[in-house]
Order: sequence, then structure tokens, then C-alpha cells
Amino acid sequence: MDKVTRIGVLTSGGDSPGMNAAIRAVVRTGIYNKLEVYGIMRGYSGMVDGDIFEMESKSVANIIQRGGTILKTSRSNEFLEPEGRKRAYESLKKFGINGLVIIGGDGSFRGAQTFSKEFDIPCIGLPGTIDKDIAGTDFTIGFDTAVNTAVEAIDKIRDTMDAHDRLFVIEVMGRDSGYIALHSGIATGAENILIPEKSTDIEGLLNALTEKERRHKLVNLIVVAEGKFGGANEVAKVIKQRLPQQEVRVCILGHIQRGGSPSCFDRLVASRMGYAAVECLLEGRYNVFVGILNNRMHYTPLDEAVKKKQRISEEWMKIVKILSS
Ligand code: F6P
Repeated sequence: MDKVTRIGVLTSGGDSPGMNAAIRAVVRTGIYNKLEVYGIMRGYSGMVDGDIFEMESKSVANIIQRGGTILKTSRSNEFLEPEGRKRAYESLKKFGINGLVIIGGDGSFRGAQTFSKEFDIPCIGLPGTIDKDIAGTDFTIGFDTAVNTAVEAIDKIRDTMDAHDRLFVIEVMGRDSGYIALHSGIATGAENILIPEKSTDIEGLLNALTEKERRHKLVNLIVVAEGKFGGANEVAKVIKQRLPQQEVRVCILGHIQRGGSPSCFDRLVASRMGYAAVECLLEGRYNVFVGILNNRMHYTPLDEAVKKKQRISEEWMKIVKILSS
């Protein structure tokens, strides 16, 4: 492959707070190293359509603190097809782009992996997702902010829950991933945390709630990941059937978890990773994603990344059980 001289950067999939900080780091590190840097709009869709523009250092001024992504994002169906990827390649060729940085989650990495196998353009992934479900990194860009947003909201709900002696089922994001539920649930002292990765003894949960009702302990905070049992509404329905006396309320936090100004932590993670992505392209470390493991940069081949998913250890579940007892 040719030496990388012109790089493209894009954000793809669900946005996450800190994506702008990552774009900024890629653009500025690229320019510092005399590369030309191009922004690709709307993720892979913009690559297919050739919606590409040259970026300068000042294109990324005053964005490190902003949520969302200045490059916009999408989940592209066209890029899933060989014809779409061919068009995307032709767009890159037209602009002379010979290296790519993709900021996104596991779906975006799958796209990058396929593309890098079909065409001679090296790809570097940066884990930009609030879900933290990517194996090979301790952190993903946006997770910290999303969890803090959830914690702030749940703390507020706890006040009113406590005042009314109610049971609340709170749904946080994570269709296939329970990390937001796990972390926000532990941090807010939730009595139960229901996540897709682990089986839940729903009968045991209902029995425990019945027993608590007998003891007049009516305040209960249950945090559920959206992908578990069809989410909070379904969980609440089952509880109401068994405990018709209980005042059950549901709160779905939804997309507020994806927005907002990134935390300091996410800005730092994004800046380190963005810098490292360009270093990878300069050093010829191609087709990997950049992670941070034990506070060191860690590079996982995209081939491996698409096969693995971040797991949730049994120890976490033990902590949940002991601390909520
Ligand atoms: O980005 C990840 C995520 O926020 C998941 O937690 C959630 O299930 C999904 O995206 C929601 O996607 P959309 O915004 O397309 O509804």
C-alpha cells in the first residue's frame, strides 16, 4: 500500500459525546504531520455519495466541548452492499484519500473491516459508542458522559420515588449491552439491575418484592437496559400483575443519554485515541482499532474486534447483589 498522505475521517452509527473531540484530535494530529485531512459527512453514507470536504485546523476550533458530531452520522444501508462500498471507494479515490479513520461502534467496525479487505485503503477504528460493548478497550468515547447523564437523572427520580414510597423502573440505553445499566445502577444504589448479558431470575425478583411489600419497604429502584425483557414498560407490567397494590412508575431516559457536553474524561479519551489513530496510519499499523487497556494504548485488529464483544464479569453481578442487600 502507498504511504498515507491524505486521510478521511467520519463518524458512524449512534453518536456519542466526545466524537467531536476525537475528530478534532485526528484533524490536528494529521495536519501537524503534514497530512491532508478530509471530513466525510454522515458516516458511510457520505462516503458512498462523495460528500467530502477538506478540513483545516480551524474547522475543528471550539468543538471539543460539544456533543453530537459536526460530521453528522448515519447507519448506512448502502454501505452494507458491495455496490455501495465500491461507490464509496471511488469517492475516496476521487479525493485521493488513502487512509481512513472511522469513529463509531461495533457495526461501524464491521463496515470498516469488510471495506479494508476489499480495497487498498487502510482503516483505523476509534470506539465511539455510549454502549461500551467493544472488547479490547477499557473505555469507549461517550460512555462516561452517558453514564453520568443517567446517574444525574436517576438521582432526581430517587428523590421523588422516596417521597412517595414508590417503585420505579428506569430504562437506560443499551439494546445489546448492559454497561450503562450496570454502572448507573451501582452508582445510584439500585436494588435491581437487569441487563441483556445476564439471565435474570424474574420469579426470584417478584418474590423479593412481595416480601419487601410485606415489610412495608415500598421504595425500590430497578434499572433495566432497554434490550432486556422488552424494556421498562414490560418489566413494570409483570410487577403490577403480581403486586397490584404497589405504586409502580416507569421512566425511560432515552436519547438524553446520547447528547450533551462530553465529560472531561471522554474528551481526554477521545483526544488520546484520535492522536493514536493518525500515528497508526503514519507507522503502517493498519486495519486496527485503537483502545486503551490498563492506561496504555492498545491496538486490536479489526478482524478480531468484529468477533468479540465486551463481557460483563460475574464479579460485577456479585457487587450488585451484595451492595443492594
Ligand atoms: O448508540 C448505541 C445506542 O444508543 C444503543 O444503546 C441504542 O439501543 C441505540 O443506539 C438506539 O439507536 P437509535 O438512535 O437509532 O434509536
